[in-house]
Amino acid sequence: MDTLTLRRPDDWHLHLRDDDMLRLVAPQSAHFARAIVMPNLVPPVVTGAEAAAYRDRIQAAGFARPLMTLYLTEATDPADVVAAHAAGVITAVKLYPAGATTNSASGVRDFDKVRPVLTAMEEAGIPLCIHGEVTDRDIDIFDREATFIDRTLTPLRRAHPALKITLEHVTTAEAVDFVQGNDNTGATITVQHLMANRNDMLAGGMRPHFYCLPILKRDTHQARLRQVATNGDTRFFLGTDSAPHPTHAKEATCCAAGCFTAPHALSCLAHVFEEEGALDRLEGFVSLHGPAHYGLAPNEDRITLTRGAALSLPDRIEGHGQTVTLFDPGHPLHWHVT
Ligand code: DOR
Ligand code: ZN
Repeated sequence: MDTLTLRRPDDWHLHLRDDDMLRLVAPQSAHFARAIVMPNLVPPVVTGAEAAAYRDRIQAAGFARPLMTLYLTEATDPADVVAAHAAGVITAVKLYPAGATTNSASGVRDFDKVRPVLTAMEEAGIPLCIHGEVTDRDIDIFDREATFIDRTLTPLRRAHPALKITLEHVTTAEAVDFVQGNDNTGATITVQHLMANRNDMLAGGMRPHFYCLPILKRDTHQARLRQVATNGDTRFFLGTDSAPHPTHAKEATCCAAGCFTAPHALSCLAHVFEEEGALDRLEGFVSLHGPAHYGLAPNEDRITLTRGAALSLPDRIEGHGQTVTLFDPGHPLHWHVT
């Protein structure tokens, strides 16, 4: 198979940042019709009014159809969330455990404090996107997702059975089991977690452009993710988690977490699906399962992927005074998007 025509994909987890970085990266997601945009700006996007203003800045920067989220804090007003959703300003709310990742200091420490918001969301049918990692310093970084599922997600799921949950950027077999074992639960999977494991990041030298959170796990977890991404399971769909940081912040003594995959995400995924003998299931993963989870129609227009000579990708993109290095899987990519 050398040509593949798909309904236009969406990205169900994207970081676009703000200001000059937003202006640099917004056009890089042009292959995607819609994207769930993460609210972890500094300061975070916490109210409906802030989400509307951020949406306008994103559109002005060249990405037409952002689906906005609110950053859940212990002070979030349930009425504001419900009103923003009813007005079509937001698509979902994002839960970051405090301290879990980049700009997550205002996240949730005491889950009892957000009960009223979660109950209101459950009643109004507003999806909750979850960064599923505990932040306790005594929990090994490779165990933080599995521990979160045991300690936090399982009780939360039980307390709010009708709440639609997206477990973001799943990285472990435990997370896959949880999604498959619970109703009203879907999950995004990133490009880097399908293409790489912790050996790619750490063996023979530390490669900062593979460092993201949740951190890459061992190859057996990667294999499970590749299996559920490529076998047609509708509970799993693409969320690139493309997370641009300036190159100097990645190539640093203390490297920022995030892989910048937006420009070539689809070429990377076609590569993975081809390796798995599943190119016929790529459309489900990138264009169909996500809209179904969010109760939206899939896109009507189409894109075409063509297999050809190795792509010549730039190492980095530059503009507006910013430089961002692309995620490099370490081997050539052959699928071109038109
Ligand atoms: O690697 C990551 N980078 N993981 C996240 O959850 C956040 C993101 C970012 O905003 O940089
Ligand atoms: Zn993210």
